[in-house]
Amino acid sequence: MEIANHKVVVVGGSSGMGLAVVRAALEKGAQVVAVARSAEKLARAVDELGFGGKVSSLAADVTREDDVRRLFETIGHFDHLVVTAAGDLAYQPIRELDLDATRRIIDSKLIAALLLAKHAAAYIDEHGSLTFTSGIAAERPLPNGLVVAAVNGALFSLTYGLATSLAPVRVNVLSPGWVDTPIWEAVAGKDKPARFEQMSRRLPAGRIGRPEDIAHAALFLMENEFTTGTVLRVDGGHRLV
Ligand SMILES: NC(=O)c1ccc[n+]([C@@H]2O[C@H](COP(=O)([O-])OP(=O)(O)OC[C@H]3O[C@@H](n4cnc5c(N)ncnc54)[C@H](OP(=O)(O)O)[C@@H]3O)[C@@H](O)[C@H]2O)c1
Repeated sequence: MEIANHKVVVVGGSSGMGLAVVRAALEKGAQVVAVARSAEKLARAVDELGFGGKVSSLAADVTREDDVRRLFETIGHFDHLVVTAAGDLAYQPIRELDLDATRRIIDSKLIAALLLAKHAAAYIDEHGSLTFTSGIAAERPLPNGLVVAAVNGALFSLTYGLATSLAPVRVNVLSPGWVDTPIWEAVAGKDKPARFEQMSRRLPAGRIGRPEDIAHAALFLMENEFTTGTVLRVDGGHRLV
């Protein structure tokens, strides 16, 4: 299946991996709707892409059910949904666990995924696909990143369940390793170059991931008609080191 002329919705489409998926889908001839909370950031990102009428943007907070319902009512029938959104991924050791921060992480990746699946179901083409984004933390949890690890692991299980309950719509999950996106300014700040260099030396792939690596995998999951219920790891071999 080719995605040329398909309607592709990318939640998280104003930054990092999501923005790379938007660009890759446009280059393949798809019509793309980019979604994120900040309308200004979205407008800037979409403007810079320069694909004219092939790309549009809609502001929504996908942790809120009203926003998600309205989002799909506005978009109508569509073919593929790719979700890369995540916010407020506070890292905290278990002994200092803050419940509000914990709930924000769960909302941001897991509740959002459930709401998107619930409301997309009425509008997604039966030959279409849904792709979530988990991450290496699911399998290599950091001591102070247990909530992120648990939420990423839950996305694997959710994907297995949805692949059968939403069939024939295909449902898959990407699991990136470390990828150079704006999220790292918050996670590592000025330590980012040193941490990236250290990790590059450890990884079998010999470098940190690029958003384009993830976009390439997202295109595969949209286009390959025989892949569903799959965790696609794009991590440079991180699990092995
Ligand atoms: N980068 C890495 O090394 C890495 C590694 C493993 C896994 N991951 C996972 O990969 C995914 C993509 O990460 P990234 O690095 O590309 O992140 P990013 O550059 O920070 O982009 C996140 C995007 O999600 C949007 N967003 C956040 N919360 C939202 C909400 N409630 N509703 C709608 N949109 C929302 C953001 O825009 P607004 O802020 O305007 O809403 C932004 O467009 C995340 O799930 C992350 O956990 C990343």
